[in-house]
Amino acid sequence: MIFETNGAHIVDTLIMLAELVCFEQKCGARFPITEPIYNCPSCGVLLEVRFINGRLDPQQWKKTWRERRTSNSMLDQSGVWRYRELLPFDNHYDSVTSLREGNTPLLNAPRAAEYGGLDHLTFKHQGFNPTGSFKDNGMTCGVAQAARLGRKRVACVSTGNTSASMAAYSSAAGLDPIVFIPHGEIAYGKLAQALEYGARTLQVQANFDEILALVRLLADRLGIYLLNSINPFRIEGQKTSIVEMMDQRDWNPPDWIVLPGGNLGNTSAFGKALRELRDFGFIQKMPRLAVIQAEGSAPFYEYMQTRGEFRSTPNPRTLATAIRIGDPVSWPKALNEITVTNGVVEKVSEQEIADAKAVIGRCGIGCEPASAATLAGIRKLTNAGVMRAHDDVIAVLTGNVLKDPDYIYRYHTGQLKDPEGKLIQARYGNQPVTVPNDVDTITRMLEE
Ligand code: F0G
Repeated sequence: MIFETNGAHIVDTLIMLAELVCFEQKCGARFPITEPIYNCPSCGVLLEVRFINGRLDPQQWKKTWRERRTSNSMLDQSGVWRYRELLPFDNHYDSVTSLREGNTPLLNAPRAAEYGGLDHLTFKHQGFNPTGSFKDNGMTCGVAQAARLGRKRVACVSTGNTSASMAAYSSAAGLDPIVFIPHGEIAYGKLAQALEYGARTLQVQANFDEILALVRLLADRLGIYLLNSINPFRIEGQKTSIVEMMDQRDWNPPDWIVLPGGNLGNTSAFGKALRELRDFGFIQKMPRLAVIQAEGSAPFYEYMQTRGEFRSTPNPRTLATAIRIGDPVSWPKALNEITVTNGVVEKVSEQEIADAKAVIGRCGIGCEPASAATLAGIRKLTNAGVMRAHDDVIAVLTGNVLKDPDYIYRYHTGQLKDPEGKLIQARYGNQPVTVPNDVDTITRMLEE
């Protein structure tokens, strides 16, 4: 590691060398950072990036990262690469493609706070990203690694947002994206993005978990680089939404960070970011993570109830298609992060997700269904006394409101049915009204 000072500033030559380490402590196998692997070749467990003898001076870097916000350079403008000292690229950024991801706002939402039983509630809205979801934070990093390794073809299986993001970033980088999606099971906005961004798009007649197994075989056979969240570089990029959040709060951690859980990659990334920020001395307190799953796709919640054997959900169901995952690959990492942060895992019903989503909409903020699981979860956790009214809570909205317009229209017009075919009540419904082209009729109507 090299510290080089230039007057009062530490310039950009700090290098924290990184390696890939098996997440299973008993194994602990280590590999060079440029090895194109996702699981430990010895024991099969997922890999994690670790910095070797890492040390960062918090005061200096807090200042430098803040100063970079006024810079016009591509790396500094990115809300991911601005924090590049925490990313494993050994100070080499030639392979980076940025669409100016990150830079997502913290938004106060008094109505949502009241609904959730809190005095205050802040949303970190990752749906403000270039392709409308938090996946962009991780994808810029994953695609940079693909380019660094000289890989041309990249692939992922996705419930929609990963594919939209991968299609955009890999096309922007001149790579060849192949997207695998569960046939008929992803929101139209997301499918449209994959097509528009030029990904070869394969709709497989199977669910997410089955397709992931298939894609892993194909990747091995055809030498395709995989960009699912089993890829440790995706996790590294996703860490930065937490770093940015702390920077935006002048490094005051909240009491809670609430997020939806599907494949649990984001939970792993958030926990890793918090551990690193604590270990490097950037924050003194660990926020608690609260992971919220949809009732019909809640294998991690069920596991946390018993702590017995991890059982997948063979036929996961939820209208929040982004988190319709029954066999989350990152659960061992997520378990570690929940333990380290003294976190909790909750599950919420389809009705609860739909209502919470409409409330977030009425705040003028809006999000896609999976994201609304956060507010539904907060309401449940405050009711149960796990979260208290005066707690400082940040809920992460993972996707943009326009990702799934079909869901919105059905909800507001009272046509939304849960996966069992039961009608969801439009408790916060807002029906469009058809009127004649007549000024008097409309005046009378609006005056009523
Ligand atoms: N919210 C949204 C909007 C998502 O798209 C996802 C995951 C999650 C939450 C859950 O995050 O998997 O890290 O626990 N979407 C993936 C995809 C699986 O393929 O787009 P997770």
